[in-house]
Amino acid sequence: MQAPAGMRFHRIAAVCVVALACRHAQVPLPAFSPAIVSAATAARGEYIVRNVAVCGGCHAADPKHDVDGPLSGGTEFRDWRIGIARASNLTPDAETGIGSWSDAEIVRAIRNGQRKDGRLLAPVMPYEWFHEMSDDDALSVARYLKSLAPVRHEVTQSPSIAFKLGKLLFLRPKPAVSVATPPRGATAYGGYLAQHAGLCADCHTPRSGLQSKPDKNRLFAGMAHPPKDFPKRPTDLTPDPDTGIGRWSEADFLQTLRSGKRLSGEELDPFMPWRQIRRMSDDDLRAIYVYLRSLPPIRNDEAPAARAK
Ligand code: HEC
Ligand code: HEC
Repeated sequence: MQAPAGMRFHRIAAVCVVALACRHAQVPLPAFSPAIVSAATAARGEYIVRNVAVCGGCHAADPKHDVDGPLSGGTEFRDWRIGIARASNLTPDAETGIGSWSDAEIVRAIRNGQRKDGRLLAPVMPYEWFHEMSDDDALSVARYLKSLAPVRHEVTQSPSIAFKLGKLLFLRPKPAVSVATPPRGATAYGGYLAQHAGLCADCHTPRSGLQSKPDKNRLFAGMAHPPKDFPKRPTDLTPDPDTGIGRWSEADFLQTLRSGKRLSGEELDPFMPWRQIRRMSDDDLRAIYVYLRSLPPIRNDEAPAARAK
C-alpha cells in the first residue's frame, strides 16, 4: 500500500534532516603563507617526528623493537570504546600509505583528526595535543613523511559500534587553526615542545572519564592509573618538591633524559621514549625543563618522580 503523498514527504524530510545532522563537516584544509612554505623543511620534520613527537612509538613497523624503523604502521590498539585502531602506514606508498595525500591533508589529519576522505581518526592518534602544532612544524612533518621511502603495507581499521555511534552523535574533528611557533628560548617554547610538538603531556597528564580525557587542570601531574598497555606509570613532572621535579637541577633533568637512568641509577623503561628524546638539542631540553619548573606544583604520591640526591 502506498503512503499518502504528504506522509511520504514528511518521511523523506526526516531522513534528510538526520542525514544532514550526521554528515561530518570537512574541516577546511589549512592554507599556508609563502613565509611558512619557505620556512618548513623535511629536516625540521624529521627532528620532530623522530626525536620530539616520536611518531614511531606507534607508527613504526615494530615499535617494541625498532621505534626508529620505517613508519609503515600496523600496530594495534584495542579498546571497547574504539574497537581496534591500527597505526596507519605513514610512508608515501600511493595505494596503502599517504602517497596520494597533499601536504595540507596530512597536516589536517595530524591537527584536526580528519582523514583525507573526511572520516574521523580514532583518538588514539593524539590530535588532542597535536591540534596546536605550528603551521611551519606541521608542514615540515608532512614534507618529511613525503620524503620517506614508500613501503607497501595495507592497514585496515576495525571500529567498534560504540566508536561508530560516537562519531555519528558527538565526536567531531578539532576546529581549523593557524598556529605560530613561539619564539625560541621563551618558556612558551618549552611548553609548546612538551605539549604540541611532543607528547610529554599526553603521557604525563592524568586522564579521566568515559572518554579518557586528559585532566588539563592537573597538567604533568603524572598518571596513577595509566591504560593497561603502559608498562610503567608516567611520573609527576610538576615542580612539587616531594613527588615532582622540584628538587631537580637542570643538569639532573638533562642527565636523566640523556642516559635513560634515574638519579638513583635505576633504568627508565624504554616505553618512556628516552632513546629518541635524548637526541633533542640542549636548548630544547632546557626549554622543557624551564617550562615544567614554571608550572604549579602538584603532589602525586601514586606516581612520584625519582628523588634528587
Ligand atoms: C599513540 C599512538 C600514536 C602516535 C604517537 C601518533 N599516531 Fe598517528 N595515528 C595513530 C593511529 C592508531 C592512527 C589510525 C587512526 C584511525 O585510522 O582511526 C593514526 C593515524 C594517523 C594519520 C592518518 C593516516 C591515514 O592513512 O588515515 C596520520 C597522517 C598520522 N597518524 C600521523 C602521525 C604523525 C605525523 C605522528 C607524530 C607527529 C603521529 N601520527 C603520532 C596513532 C598514533
Ligand atoms: C609514551 C609515553 C611517554 C612519553 C611520550 C613521555 N614520557 Fe616521560 N615517562 C613515561 C613513563 C612511563 C615514565 C616512567 C618510566 C619508568 O618508571 O621506568 C616516564 C619517566 C620520565 C622521566 C623520569 C622521571 C622520574 O621519575 O625519575 C622524565 C624526566 C620524563 N619522563 C620526561 C619526559 C619528557 C620531557 C617527555 C617529552 C619530551 C616525556 N617524558 C615523554 C612515559 C612517557
